[in-house]
Amino acid sequence: MQLSHSFAVLLAVIPIVVAQSAVWGQCGGIGWTGPTTCDSGSSCVVSNPYYSQCLPGAGSAPSSTASPPSPTNSAGLPGSTSTVNGLNALAKTQGKLYLGTATDNPELTDTAYTTILDNNMMFGQLTPANSMKWDATEPEPGTFTFTEGDQIADLAQTNGQLLRGHNCVWYNQLPSWVTSTTWNATGLTAAIERHVSTVVGHYKGIPSSSDQLPTQANLPFQSPDAWDVVNEPFNDDGTFRSDVFYDTLGESYITIALNAARAADPNAKLYINDYNIEGTGVKSTAMQNLIQSLKAAGTPIDGVGIESHLIVGEVPTTMQENLEAITALGVEVAITELDIRMTLPETAALLEQQKSDYQTVISTCMAVEKCVGMTLWDFTDKYSWVPSTFSGQGDACPWDENLVRKPAYDGIVAGLQS
Ligand code: G3I
Repeated sequence: MQLSHSFAVLLAVIPIVVAQSAVWGQCGGIGWTGPTTCDSGSSCVVSNPYYSQCLPGAGSAPSSTASPPSPTNSAGLPGSTSTVNGLNALAKTQGKLYLGTATDNPELTDTAYTTILDNNMMFGQLTPANSMKWDATEPEPGTFTFTEGDQIADLAQTNGQLLRGHNCVWYNQLPSWVTSTTWNATGLTAAIERHVSTVVGHYKGIPSSSDQLPTQANLPFQSPDAWDVVNEPFNDDGTFRSDVFYDTLGESYITIALNAARAADPNAKLYINDYNIEGTGVKSTAMQNLIQSLKAAGTPIDGVGIESHLIVGEVPTTMQENLEAITALGVEVAITELDIRMTLPETAALLEQQKSDYQTVISTCMAVEKCVGMTLWDFTDKYSWVPSTFSGQGDACPWDENLVRKPAYDGIVAGLQS
């Protein structure tokens, strides 16, 4: 049907007034009937199903110089050709909560890096790689320092990104007062409870209720939607790792930590996180047995973190089957620390295989309903932990060390579109 000329003219001259929310104002959520767009310079970001908020600068397009597709990488090898400029935006469109990345405080002075990091169309979630760990937050007994953790929590809030707390109880990166004390069970239980409740309590959000909804404007910083409460409790053969916690308290340290975390922040999803549980095998079976026994005992546990520090050409073929077996126990899963390393030097063939491997991992999460999101263990080879740990290996991330996208980026895009 064709509009009459006079009606079309009328439409052209009547100003259509669409109210917009001011920065920090509400712009959506269940039951919200006000404006759903934001004043210029801010964008509407979902905080939770009941509340979306206009955040300054959020959603701005990536700088064209910082993160362009590039058919060749810095070494003249194949690069990314994808024109998709927002991995997180695509992940959300496809039904996941986020695609995010780890980051670390020293990197935040690198403005070429932060231009990509801060774009919430690209990354919808941040995990601090080091600054919320025990050695960083409680270096002396009962003395807590949150400066660096707060920097990343503040950044996530400013950027309109989710935050993952990482981590509470881990055998590694412990201050010497934890590892060198000769503990009895009572003393170590108290130390775990103080640590977990203080750290998780420090970062918790304002409790949700129908009449007092959390808003980012009245939170001191972004609070974590999930915590890796217990990190890497297993050996690769599925036995419990011997460390100060297990050797003093047995498996009960896990329950002690989870209970303390739930009490400190009832709204955060509580996870146990580990590596080499991507495919089926004894270590994944051990994790499943642990989840079952925690649930049977009524211990709070919401998710299993599937770290996914993988090797090019060696992505387990049983990953989907494995994730479905874990989620069948009544917990969610997340890909928490994805990187896929290769033996150097990189070649076109290795980059192509890496692209395919990233696609496999991402598409596996997409195929598993209760796989809620995916986090890269930093997005650039410039700041990857791999070379300093695995001699002769590296180039594990989707951006190269000059912040140029690699074929792996296109693999992620293809995985998200599957
Ligand atoms: O803080 C010291 C600093 O004072 C010193 O000057 C500097 C000298 O090298 O070292 C600094 O500590 C380093 C720390 O990162 C902070 O930068 C450690 O040497 C270094 O070993 C440590 O590496 C971290 C590693 O965990 C420790 O195991 C990586 O950055 C971090 O990405 C990595 O993350 C872990 C996850 O938490 C758990 N899953 C595995 C993953 C990879 O190992």
